[in-house]
Amino acid sequence: MASAHDATRVLLILSAVVCATCAAKSAETETAAPEGTATAAGTFDISKLGATGDGKTDSTKAVMDAWTSACGATGSSTLVIPKGDYLVGPLGFTGPCKGDITIQLDGNLLGTNDLAKYNASWIEVTRVDNILITGAGTLDGQGKAVYSKDCKAMPNTLVLYYVNNGTVSGIKLLNSKFFHINIDKSKDITVKDVTITAPGDVENTDGVHVGDSSNVTITNSVIGTGDDCVSIGSGSAGVMVMGITCGPGQGISVGCLGRYKDEKDVSDVTVRDCVLKSTTNGVRIKSYEDAESVITASRLTFEDIRMDDVAKPIIIDQYYCPEKVCPGKKSSTSHVAVKDVVFRNITGTSSTPEAVSLLCSENQPCSGVELIDVKVEYAGKNNKTIAVCNNAKGIAKGSIEALACLA
Ligand SMILES: *[C@@H]1O[C@H](CO)[C@@H](O)[C@H](O)[C@H]1NC(C)=O
Ligand SMILES: *[C@@H]1O[C@H](CO)[C@@H](O)[C@H](O)[C@H]1NC(C)=O
Ligand SMILES: *[C@@H]1O[C@H](CO)[C@@H](O)[C@H](O)[C@H]1NC(C)=O
Ligand SMILES: *[C@@H]1O[C@H](CO)[C@@H](O)[C@H](O)[C@H]1NC(C)=O
Ligand SMILES: *[C@@H]1O[C@H](CO)[C@@H](O)[C@H](O)[C@H]1NC(C)=O
Repeated sequence: MASAHDATRVLLILSAVVCATCAAKSAETETAAPEGTATAAGTFDISKLGATGDGKTDSTKAVMDAWTSACGATGSSTLVIPKGDYLVGPLGFTGPCKGDITIQLDGNLLGTNDLAKYNASWIEVTRVDNILITGAGTLDGQGKAVYSKDCKAMPNTLVLYYVNNGTVSGIKLLNSKFFHINIDKSKDITVKDVTITAPGDVENTDGVHVGDSSNVTITNSVIGTGDDCVSIGSGSAGVMVMGITCGPGQGISVGCLGRYKDEKDVSDVTVRDCVLKSTTNGVRIKSYEDAESVITASRLTFEDIRMDDVAKPIIIDQYYCPEKVCPGKKSSTSHVAVKDVVFRNITGTSSTPEAVSLLCSENQPCSGVELIDVKVEYAGKNNKTIAVCNNAKGIAKGSIEALACLA
């Protein structure tokens, strides 16, 4: 049950100012799990439970009724969203459920633009194990009508919160008001064959964010938004990002790290076989200059990646401070250690001369950095390709000479 404390927290979440935020919050309010006698497993089609696919009639109740039945059923059940456009408010898909669940998205769900109805998220799957969300339909956040430049927190589109063994497959996500997919405190999660699209100039529309989760695979997807394509936040261990085409947006990031107290280490992240098109960053590790947490990011591998006109293709930034609220502490106060980072077989072009930036701090040099076969060249004619490197230790092999900047 939600406590008064939770309610306050939630209000704070949606009234917070979040320019260039890094961590998406999940509502820690929890609707009660379905109770009572188990129903028989089966198929629960929202159009047979009163939903109207005209894009205008509020179908929230039909979807929630279908969820309650599916979640309360023993065996494998399917919640079907048939072809059509179904307008809905926030959907709290809370477990634990009695059996495995598939959400079959053949049609489209449209998120209401009545912002007063939301807490932190639009569709929040909480404490549900063995769930598959699949289909060719779209989760349309309808963000275009409510995007604003005043940095107000908005609802994430799809949140997996305390989910074990979850798969999101085939679906499209469009114009989320905030992060499109947020995987939080979950494990054994696969996101595959999804298409995520939002305007290139709206911040905080991250494609997929992972935080406090383990064994997460994000693969074979096309992601173009106004923020990070994929971002991997604190507490993530064992994340594979493979076969992703990114752009527009801010590229693939580990971080931001260190912004909040009690963050946890990041380890064993692999980004492989990705193409970045006209993004502002390519592959990036970013930690706050005035980090609150003492943590380590280690065993991070970026390989077989093509850059196509990317502004900053390879970047480690231990001085990250986007809101300019870092209280002027010196770089020597960095508390996020970055080590054992491999950049291998990274090719293509940059749109600025600075193809490699390894900005590590004096007291916390980056260690074990490898630049192997890094061949990214400035696409313009007027300047030479360069690397800017501070306090980065490791080895370079087979890379363009100007980029082999390690100490
Ligand atoms: C939003 O939070 C309030 C207060 O905690 C809670 O009663 C309500 O069920 C929540 N709504 C949703 C959609 O989660
Ligand atoms: C994971 O969930 C799927 C249903 O989505 C189920 O078929 C499978 O058995 C589950 N795996 C484990 C290890 O429980
Ligand atoms: C990781 O998750 C996948 C499902 O996404 C599962 O098949 C696999 O067994 C898990 N691996 C480990 C080491 O737990
Ligand atoms: C380098 O990466 C590209 C993809 O960007 C891949 O096609 C190529 O096979 C890789 N080269 C090697 C030697 O692994
Ligand atoms: C590019 O070269 C011009 C001079 O040709 C120089 O003024 C400018 O600072 C260079 N830009 C960068 C980003 O290095």
